[in-house]
Amino acid sequence: MPASDHRPAAQIPGGAVFPHRHLTGIAGLKPHQILFLLDEAEQWVDANRAHAKPDKRLAGLTQINAFFENSTRTLLSFEIAGKRLGADVVNMHAAQSSVKKGETLIDTAVTLNAMRADVIVIRHGSSGAVQLIATKVDCPVLNAGDGWHEHPTQALLDALTIRRRRGSIAGQRVVICGDILHSRVARSNMLALTALAAEVRVCGPATLMPAAIERMGVTPFADFDTALDGADVVMMLRLQNERMSGAFIPSTREYHLRYGLTDERLARAKPDALVMHPGPMNRGVEITSSVADHPERSAITEQVEMGVAVRMACLDVLTRRARGVEGWA
Ligand code: CP
Repeated sequence: MPASDHRPAAQIPGGAVFPHRHLTGIAGLKPHQILFLLDEAEQWVDANRAHAKPDKRLAGLTQINAFFENSTRTLLSFEIAGKRLGADVVNMHAAQSSVKKGETLIDTAVTLNAMRADVIVIRHGSSGAVQLIATKVDCPVLNAGDGWHEHPTQALLDALTIRRRRGSIAGQRVVICGDILHSRVARSNMLALTALAAEVRVCGPATLMPAAIERMGVTPFADFDTALDGADVVMMLRLQNERMSGAFIPSTREYHLRYGLTDERLARAKPDALVMHPGPMNRGVEITSSVADHPERSAITEQVEMGVAVRMACLDVLTRRARGVEGWA
């Protein structure tokens, strides 16, 4: 592992460890701050695997998970992460909340704040909603995915998975394939992986590729076979049908033929290339079951495992200021 990939917090320039009050995106994080969060997460991977005695450093704190959009992995892992650290975790599902009665986002945020939450985790269907809420509350806010914008903890858990499985992030050729246009996962990953000096290729139909994507420091490909050449990591994304208005692809069958990851296609990548998917997967569309379930190549369940560790690290780091613990600035 290159030294730059694993720099201990003490060596961070100026002694600043993590000066941010919120985690609304990867944008705005410096490479050493991303690495700091990954390094912090490592201890929780080990502790979780060892079923270690609970570390209740968040005891007495109230964590509210406010989810205005569906989620399995992110919601559950934030809940598990908070509980493993001893926080009192409360989940607010929009479908059962007063949002359904017409309450505005800002009124909801002010209400959560009045309950003296110590940390709020938010998923919302609108890009920028989490940043807006962060300006209305007194506690740290973590973005659990907002519209097409960002999903920072997903990018962190993906980076941790790559670093652990490949030994490094710098220099890795990572192919992200699918609905790049509508994907907050793609956006956060492009930001994180380019910041950490990976070579990032993005691939998908022209209708699902943002204009001027090269400005993000990535290389676009329309042909998946070409993009896969020599890949170290292949990250597949689902079609975000819920964010599409109109037809962006002729049919899912044709999409699978051109952009589905099959065993034959994967053979174009390096022999030990890693297969990743943030979930939920649409088997038979962007990925076949034999690839998704490959015992050595697929890191999909490991991504889920890393999600708990990364979210424990983020909750810990972002509440350090309130707990009077060093390591936040
Ligand atoms: N990867 C991800 O965000 O999954 P969920 O929508 O299930 O949280």
